[in-house]
Parts: sequence; structure tokens; C-alpha cells
Amino acid sequence: MKALIVYDSVYGNTEKIAKAIAEAITPSNEVKVLRVGEANPSELASVNLLIVGSPTHAGRPIPVVQDFLNKVPELSLKGVNVAAFDTRISKKIVGMFGYAAGRIAGNLKKKGGTLIASPEGFFVTGGQGPLKEGELERAAGWAKGILQSKK
Ligand SMILES: Cc1cc2nc3c(=O)[nH]c(=O)nc-3n(C[C@H](O)[C@H](O)[C@H](O)COP(=O)(O)O)c2cc1C
Repeated sequence: MKALIVYDSVYGNTEKIAKAIAEAITPSNEVKVLRVGEANPSELASVNLLIVGSPTHAGRPIPVVQDFLNKVPELSLKGVNVAAFDTRISKKIVGMFGYAAGRIAGNLKKKGGTLIASPEGFFVTGGQGPLKEGELERAAGWAKGILQSKK
């Protein structure tokens, strides 16, 4: 299976999660991890699994990730399994805005993708991180769960 993980990261936490996800699914698959700036939104149809991740800023994906999603051609993800994740702070007050992962998943579905996992958030302990303990392992588990659901 060909998997592509596209992400961006301001302080490095989302990048760590993206790499943990890639590592978790690498043994049995061909996996690429790209920052949004390196990914071509028009060349996604050739992958079997596309996972997109972003930090949550004001309840949304950061602008570079949203721009990437906007540039994915209509219905070009038909036949592509998709999943989405974000990083976020575990404070009730910021939770009122919502989170990036659900919005990313909605965008990917709108472009024709088949959502194969619930959008997931991974927690940082402060605005700039670090990640909460155990989140890299949880990300690896989430990714392995995605592969299970594909079988
Ligand atoms: C401008 C700004 C807005 C943010 N808004 C939210 C938010 O609405 N909800 C939330 O949970 N975290 C919010 N955060 C915290 C980010 O989610 C956190 O910085 C991010 O997970 C770190 O990931 P990164 O290291 O990959 O950039 C915000 C951070 C910044 C800098």
C-alpha cells in the first residue's frame, strides 16, 4: 500500500506526530511524509491512504494546510482512503473553537476521499509544546488502527 502523510508544524510537535505515524505504518507499506509545501495537491490520486495533519490554531488548521486542502482538485480523492489529525491544547476554554482534525477530515471527504478513521487530536502541554507524555505512542496506535480498518 502507498501511504502519504502531509502535515505542517510551527513548533515541531505536529511534525513529531507525523513521523511517529509514518514509522508505525512503515514496516508493511510504502510511506512518504511531506510538509505541505513539498506536496503536490494535484498528485494525490496515486496513493491508497492520505493522512493530513496540522496544529490547531483558533479551532482550525493553520493557513498553509488549509491552502493545500483548497488546492486539492474536486473529487480527485475518489478511491483514496483518508484520515486527519491535529495537535491541540487540553484546555476547555480553547476547545470552544473546535479543532483542526475534524475540519481537515471534512475537506478531504468533500474532495471525494473515504474517511476511514475518526479525526484524532494529540495533546501538547503548552502553546509551544512539548507533547504530553505518551502521545507519540498513542499516535502510533492510532495509525496501526487505521491499517486494521483497511483490511
Ligand atoms: C496562534 C495560536 C492559536 C492557537 N489556537 C489553539 C486553539 O484554538 N485550540 C487549541 O487546542 N490549541 C491552540 N493553539 C495551540 C496549538 O495547537 C499548539 O501550538 C500546537 O499544537 C503545536 O503544534 P506545532 O508544534 O506543530 O506547531 C494555538 C497556538 C497558537 C500559536
